[in-house]
Amino acid sequence: MGHETFRKHGHAIVDWIADYMENIEQYPVLAQVEPGEIRSRLPQKPPETAEAMDMILDDFKEIVIPGITHWQHPSFFAYFPANTSEPSILAEFLTAALGAQCMVWQTSPAATELEEVVMDWLRQMLGLPADFTGVIQDTASTSTLCALLCAREKATDFDVNKRGFLEGTRRQLVVYASEEAHSSVEKAVKIAGLGKDNLRLIPAGPDFAMLPHALETEIAADRRKGQIPCCVVATVGTTSATAIDPLKPIGEICGRYDLWLHVDGAMAGTAAILPEMRSLLDGIELADSFVFNPHKWMFANFDCSAYFCKDPKVLTSTFEILPEYLKTGVDRKVKNFRDWGIPLGRRFRALKLWFVIRYFGIKGLQDKVRTHIRLAKEFASWIDRDSRFELMAPVTINLVCFRYHPSVRTLSEGELERINKRLMEEVNRSGRMFMTHTKLKGKFALRLCIGQTNTTHVHVQKAWERIQAVVTSL
Ligand SMILES: Cc1ncc(COP(=O)(O)O)c(C=O)c1O
Repeated sequence: MGHETFRKHGHAIVDWIADYMENIEQYPVLAQVEPGEIRSRLPQKPPETAEAMDMILDDFKEIVIPGITHWQHPSFFAYFPANTSEPSILAEFLTAALGAQCMVWQTSPAATELEEVVMDWLRQMLGLPADFTGVIQDTASTSTLCALLCAREKATDFDVNKRGFLEGTRRQLVVYASEEAHSSVEKAVKIAGLGKDNLRLIPAGPDFAMLPHALETEIAADRRKGQIPCCVVATVGTTSATAIDPLKPIGEICGRYDLWLHVDGAMAGTAAILPEMRSLLDGIELADSFVFNPHKWMFANFDCSAYFCKDPKVLTSTFEILPEYLKTGVDRKVKNFRDWGIPLGRRFRALKLWFVIRYFGIKGLQDKVRTHIRLAKEFASWIDRDSRFELMAPVTINLVCFRYHPSVRTLSEGELERINKRLMEEVNRSGRMFMTHTKLKGKFALRLCIGQTNTTHVHVQKAWERIQAVVTSL
């Protein structure tokens, strides 16, 4: 391309990004296209010859942008957030420019050592125990898979790694998670070869949190049957309702029966940077591993998942490989993160965390997270005061689960589901906000999660007004 041409296009793209961020509220939050619409506008054959960058950029604006759901729109209230911020975006520019593949210390010593330092910063920021060591994975799904593989190896004295599953062994290792745990747990159980039938879904109480006594009953029953209870996955901030599994009693049970305890705090873990929310992680010292995603609610671009473990030796023994072509003269003196997870190649993800933490400071990050939590409580109070609506779950952090349920009419669960689905679809079709749904104890519930970087009171207020306006037309 040539340096000067690159500079020209680079400046134009930065200008486009700055304009995009400035005008993001003019875009519909949820992409307003039909399935296949974008594909139909793309050529079916790759170009034979070079195309001009200007043309490529024009097509990006004309074809790609209409098919984007704008996660960074401050009225994005769907799923859990995947928020970002200017310092993170700038760091991603630099990561892309360096293009470093950071598999071992030698392939970029700064990447390894910065990762060690920022992960310890995160450990301190969340008040995690001093004996936890961190590594960046791509997603919480991968982190949970790593935890299950470690649990499997620890329970079998690293025998599955060595000899594979012996006849009958597979069925004996059992994993426990609440019925509200994320689907990534089931996926990890399947990938780890443990078998979906050996995942016990423990009942949750009325607050949607795991019932420790039910967990203990299941573990004891499996033991009596000759199974090998191997791992418990507890969730801090379940996906449907941000319920908090009680880590202390669960950890004590794991201690009594010698089970690995993995804690999934994918989104909600970030809340622990607030001293007043630290109690979410009461009992975390009993965990063997913990994951939370700075790419969800800590203003770092996707992907960036922070995985912490108590005994890194179990992790490295599970994943270690050392072919001749990867040996370096300093292997005994350094951390080679290739042995701390599944892929060999690794992106330089620590850079964006370093930029974000330095740019905002702990205080700046706390202010944002605290604001989101306050806004969620405020939205919940409006729902609570309006007799046409009901809250469907306790508001523990930044997610409000609710539904339209006018008390003047008697409606069946089926009718309520149909009406609330229509409400959600109408609101989302407006393009002015985006929220999603779940089912709680079989009941359809709308989810409004507040976590986009620039969401303010105005956006939440407007969301409430829009919901009320749609309700009157139902
Ligand atoms: C509680 C919980 N765990 C795990 C995940 C999976 O996260 P990831 O997309 O990083 O794999 C999610 C996603 O929302 C989640 O809510």
